Amino acid sequence: MKLILLGAPGAGKGTVAKLLSAIDGSVQISTGDILRGEVQAGSDLGRQAEEYMKKGDLVPDSLIMGIMEKRLQAPDCAKGFLLDGFPRTIPQARALKELMARLDITLDMVVNIDVSRDVLLDRLTTRRTCVNPACQAIYNIKSNPPQKDGICNKCGSPVVQRDDETAEAINHRLETYNQKTAPLIGFYQEDGMFHNITGATSDIVVNAIKSELGM
Ligand code: AP5
Ligand code: MG
Repeated sequence: MKLILLGAPGAGKGTVAKLLSAIDGSVQISTGDILRGEVQAGSDLGRQAEEYMKKGDLVPDSLIMGIMEKRLQAPDCAKGFLLDGFPRTIPQARALKELMARLDITLDMVVNIDVSRDVLLDRLTTRRTCVNPACQAIYNIKSNPPQKDGICNKCGSPVVQRDDETAEAINHRLETYNQKTAPLIGFYQEDGMFHNITGATSDIVVNAIKSELGM
């Protein structure tokens, strides 16, 4: 499947992408995970992105498009991909449209995971993430805690709060979402491939996506 997953911080884009990926091997492409990996590796790109991310600001479109242009041409994308956290701005959405036309890629659909602000705030303050850049498994101390406190079930690395999970950064990320990313809903509604999905559990969201795709 070839999907864009839209949704505010904490909506469950990463959680749903991992579940969908397990169904048919489509790859999860999370620009947030890629950037956190670069920050940890201390690369040039990571150094450029770090300050924006800590504050909850978006990284400049040019950096993101540089990453995505290469990533979408990797052989593992042929099976399908789940775009998690990209595009995030109207210029990114326009650039993606042009890139997909050039690479002859057709999207199946754009899904917006619709979650109330209260729930988002609760999830973001209780999330824990595996520090291993190759894993970045997602936990939640309320809804999905690791089996051993503070240790990733999958790779045994520590699970911690992300650098952008301070109250200040969370508020700023939600504001940034409302200003810069929410307008993508209108952009994709015009394209006719937009689906809004409200679901209390990730399984409900996954099943709604499967049913829209006729799976
Ligand atoms: P990114 O990593 O994309 O963060 P985000 O969009 O803020 O989204 P999150 O990862 O916080 O939430 P999520 O929707 O994935 O939720 P999750 O599944 O973890 O981006 C980080 C930063 O990188 C940005 O601020 C920006 O600086 C930069 N960046 C990234 N992409 C960019 C781009 N394209 N352009 C510019 N800058 C970019 O779930 C949240 C929690 O809830 C978890 O604990 C989970 O276990 C729990 N949960 C999920 N679903 C449920 C459920 N149904 N019931 C109960 N708990 C649930
Ligand atoms: Mg995420």
